[in-house]
Amino acid sequence: MITNLLEGKKGIVFGALNDKSIAWHVAEKAHAQGARLVLTNAPVAIRMGTIGELAEKTGSEVITADATSMQDLEVLFNRSMEIFDGKFDFVLHSIGMSPNVRKGIPYAESSYENMLKTLDISALSFHRILQTAYKLDAIKEWGSVVALTYVAAQRTLAGYNDMGDAKALLESIARSFGYIYGKDRHVRVNTISQSPTATTAGSGIAGFDSLVDFSDRMSPLGNADASDCADVCITLFSDLTKKVTMQNIFNDGGFSSMGMSERAIEQYNKSFRECPDK
Ligand SMILES: NC(=O)c1ccc[n+]([C@@H]2O[C@H](COP(=O)([O-])OP(=O)(O)OC[C@H]3O[C@@H](n4cnc5c(N)ncnc54)[C@H](O)[C@@H]3O)[C@@H](O)[C@H]2O)c1
Repeated sequence: MITNLLEGKKGIVFGALNDKSIAWHVAEKAHAQGARLVLTNAPVAIRMGTIGELAEKTGSEVITADATSMQDLEVLFNRSMEIFDGKFDFVLHSIGMSPNVRKGIPYAESSYENMLKTLDISALSFHRILQTAYKLDAIKEWGSVVALTYVAAQRTLAGYNDMGDAKALLESIARSFGYIYGKDRHVRVNTISQSPTATTAGSGIAGFDSLVDFSDRMSPLGNADASDCADVCITLFSDLTKKVTMQNIFNDGGFSSMGMSERAIEQYNKSFRECPDK
């Protein structure tokens, strides 16, 4: 087993709500690999979730921040630099929320007020985080920033609603800021495109269980779970990936390169056997 990949490194992890959260798994693995962490989430998530348990397990401090508030982000980054006694090495953006998805409003009937919130929370928050870090010069040279995304940025998946638009924007921000942060400070910016994963945010998507089953049947390696995603995050935070930047890395068992698999076709054919033509 590889150990101490993040020895001496310090980082901020956004988005651990409970032990199902992908960010939770990332924090646990980063801690196990020797990193020091600050954990953060929105005020309501800290009240409703179990981040305190994770903080105890990992010896981390929790700082409340709404990722759509520049003021909260500035306080978070400044306070983190006090805790870390200087700049830090990595940031995980693991944030997503769509009021349209939550309220079951179909994409064609989108409330634009909701849609703006979706984009602000799920994508522009990434720009805000990068802009704040850049302005405060908070991330060390050769540091790494990672955000989590989904293949609905490239392909239409029924039910994913305006989160597909948010993910497309998120991935674009990674490239746009990745260029600036790379050339000016040697900081890399990447996204990881993750398989459907049973978390609070994931389970809110319409038809989620079918999506999980379909993705699994389509993927030669099967769906990647939260622990697999955390492993990829750790490699991107580590010095093993110093020249990887502005990339979207698919951690999806091969799903994004498939058109049809034998397992999926077999399942699809069953529905025809049960429903003969009338
Ligand atoms: N679960 C999946 O199927 C899946 C697949 C691909 C990508 N992702 C992405 O992974 C990331 C993490 O989601 P998850 O599946 O672990 O679910 P999760 O519900 O555990 O995490 C989402 C987090 O976003 C936080 N958040 C929402 N609004 C916020 C705000 N204003 N400020 C700060 N934080 C805020 C929530 O409090 C929560 O902790 C998201 O970007 C999600 O889109 C998830």
